[in-house]
Amino acid sequence: MPLLRPEGAWRGVVEEYRAYLSLPAGAPAISLREGNTPLVPALRAGRGADLYFKIEGQNPTGSFKDRGMAVAVSGALAEDARFLVCASTGNTSAAAAAYAARAGLPALLAVPAGDGAVARGKLAQALAFGARLVLVHGNFDQALAAVRALAALRPDAALVNSVNPLRLEGQKTGAFELIEQLGQAPDWLCIPVGNAGNISAYWRGFCEYRQAGRCRGVPRLIGAQAAGAAPLVSGTFVDNPQTLASAIRIGRPASAHLAQAAVAEADGRFVAVEDAEILAAYRFLARQEGIFCEPASAAALAGFWAARAAGWIGDGQRVVCVLTGNGLKDPERAVAESDPPMEAEATAEALARTLPPELRI
Ligand code: F0G
Repeated sequence: MPLLRPEGAWRGVVEEYRAYLSLPAGAPAISLREGNTPLVPALRAGRGADLYFKIEGQNPTGSFKDRGMAVAVSGALAEDARFLVCASTGNTSAAAAAYAARAGLPALLAVPAGDGAVARGKLAQALAFGARLVLVHGNFDQALAAVRALAALRPDAALVNSVNPLRLEGQKTGAFELIEQLGQAPDWLCIPVGNAGNISAYWRGFCEYRQAGRCRGVPRLIGAQAAGAAPLVSGTFVDNPQTLASAIRIGRPASAHLAQAAVAEADGRFVAVEDAEILAAYRFLARQEGIFCEPASAAALAGFWAARAAGWIGDGQRVVCVLTGNGLKDPERAVAESDPPMEAEATAEALARTLPPELRI
């Protein structure tokens, strides 16, 4: 039997985009076939704009981090790293754990301790992939400072946070795909911002594709931060960031300078969205669009709605919201935001009585 490898099958971001990535020559391709995620048109959320969702939750570990991790871990192997280390609000650690397993390297993951600091699904992933998971007494910013200090002491460690340039190299492939999927850049990109790596990576990707003649324009950027963790909106770091969107509960974004430069060049905006707006977008996406993302991702839609209301985004403009992570990452939030299930005897009559009144006969 021949191996099943249909012509044109997607090979993952390292092999698909190697010519655009600054990877060491001869670096292996560590891949779980990440990338190539769907771009889904909005049916009801667009409010008069031409809105699409980039569904990054369909990556192998359920978030956009897989793009950057594939490239960072490929680079780490090329440089003979003996272990991976990162701090995380959960998704980076899930991706690091998976790609570490794939590469045959140990991974040390530092995540904030405390109730709700990291969503359950993300913890489960790190554990399932066999990584060393450490609950750090402190918030994400403090955990990141600690792993940076550790990496400085240990030349055999690969630090795979987005301060590693290869992470942004991988994540810029999301911008490449958008241009390929739309045939051109959108007018606007709305994206949640925490540590500020991803918005910087997208901007780099758009600019590089324009430079390469793959698109003519680049989008304007809306960087959405949770109101309780919005240093890029206020212009000052936040010591005790607070939001239910735990993925972006970050007060000292490591790539603040890159993100500020990107938003300035893009003639864009940072916008703060309240937790209530994030939850409204989260529920709308699931119930009105059929898309289950995690709360931090819904901040992109909340940011889009805020930008529409403020008149920044005009009628009919083409907009992409990057939905960064899968809703299954945070099952506790999903249950908390929903009606409880009903119970019934196992009969047709009993089940029929559970229908809503307008469907009963
Ligand atoms: N959305 C999700 C689902 C995230 O997990 C993150 C960041 C972001 C958005 C923001 O991206 O940090 O590049 O601005 N999560 C990191 C982590 C911090 O550790 O998983 P960013």
